[in-house]
Amino acid sequence: MATHLVLLAAGQGKRMKSDLPKVLHEVAGRPLFAHGLASAAALGTGRKVVVVGNGAEAVAAAAEAEDPAIVTVVQAERLGTGHAVAQAEDALKDLGGDTVVLYGDTPFIRPDTLAAMAARREAGADIVVLGFHAAEPGRYGRIVTEGDALVRIVEFNDATETERAITLCNSGVVLAPTDTLFELCAGLKNDNAAGEYYLTDIVAQGRDKGLKAAVVTCDEAETLGVNSRADLAAAEAVFQAEARAAAMAAGVTLTAPETVFFSHDTEIGPDTVVDPHVVFAQGVRVAKNVHIRAFSHLERCDVGEGAIVGPYARLRPGAKIAPGARIGNFVEVKNAEIAEGAKVNHLTYIGDAEIGPGANIGAGTVTCNYDGVFKHRTEIGADAFIGSSTMLVAPVSVGAGAVTGSGSVITQNVPDGDLAIGRGKQVNKSGRGAEIMAELRARKLDLER
Ligand code: UD1
Ligand code: MG
Repeated sequence: MATHLVLLAAGQGKRMKSDLPKVLHEVAGRPLFAHGLASAAALGTGRKVVVVGNGAEAVAAAAEAEDPAIVTVVQAERLGTGHAVAQAEDALKDLGGDTVVLYGDTPFIRPDTLAAMAARREAGADIVVLGFHAAEPGRYGRIVTEGDALVRIVEFNDATETERAITLCNSGVVLAPTDTLFELCAGLKNDNAAGEYYLTDIVAQGRDKGLKAAVVTCDEAETLGVNSRADLAAAEAVFQAEARAAAMAAGVTLTAPETVFFSHDTEIGPDTVVDPHVVFAQGVRVAKNVHIRAFSHLERCDVGEGAIVGPYARLRPGAKIAPGARIGNFVEVKNAEIAEGAKVNHLTYIGDAEIGPGANIGAGTVTCNYDGVFKHRTEIGADAFIGSSTMLVAPVSVGAGAVTGSGSVITQNVPDGDLAIGRGKQVNKSGRGAEIMAELRARKLDLER
């Protein structure tokens, strides 16, 4: 049966000191809350409910953008984690199955960990809590066990000295049958140190009703929560370290791994070499045997097998670099297809264009794609030769095998095989260069006297 999700994302995130709700800050190019959504996908496709509060509209809009099927419910007052979960009752109560509770600010819970919790449910536990052995238990809720059984969770503020000595801590992740979860949440009281409705109290309450509770443990690193900009940077570092290790394990060479940055969705094929200081923003797919040279920035683009990109290349959204093509230094490509074997090697902007196979684009070429209001396309045929510093005023096409003279401003289509020259005609004035220089030097001497 499907497992539903309640993602708590109502918190204020005061320590972020931000106008942006905390869960919308990004790790690996993806908002914090969306990491939890992705992990929960491991449990199947139940209904996903995001509990919003602080910055409700912005969080709801981001959730909708992430997945239109997400239901958002508003927790108007932050009265505690149990109260927050209770807000999802109307959205889930008739659906049966199990429901898992995740926090929107805790991005690294592994799909495998959630699967282990589900296995524990199947093995007969009614309420499964995710715990971890904390190096510094600090103010985490403590998990009280008796043998294998989970007895209760006690919040730090309410704990005795003996309980505070426990190092098994609560991550906040809970899995239970949907009906049980909401029934127990409805019975919560707030007679505790914080005056909050604690979700954690469902464990003791459930046991009072004869339900079985169990704890599954995970690595502490998975439970890393983001509360400050420093935490955000730490989370990013954790993600990057894992992504680099994963890329290398998959056969990608990273010459200086600590200088390469990935997004959550970066795909790179084996035997690709990534030189130092390369950034993969979102939506990048790189095939095998590619060489991405130093200081390149790639976003929402595809790079085909055997291509060479950079150094100092910028591939923007919609750049499609075919196998064996070459993109050199200080070249920007946006929404353009560079066909097999084409070369765009120096100081060039190619936007809204199609460059045919084997074409050679000279240094300093610009596709003038924007007239201030509309964007227009440039088409360059197979094996065309675009002379250095050609301005291609789009919409315009240059045919297969055609040539443009250096410095041309091309405003009309060029037929296949033609030579197009569009620039002022050169005039040589005999001896005039030497004369001008002599005049200027004489003037300078006059001034210095
Ligand atoms: C909670 C747990 C604690 C656990 C810790 C792990 C309870 C009572 N305590 O404590 O056992 O060790 O997390 O980090 O559950 N939230 C809402 N609405 C609310 C309150 C909270 O959406 O009314 C959200 C927060 O934005 C946050 C999450 O729930 O994402 C946890 O809330 P927080 O206040 O951080 O709980 P802790 O006191 O840290
Ligand atoms: Mg917390």
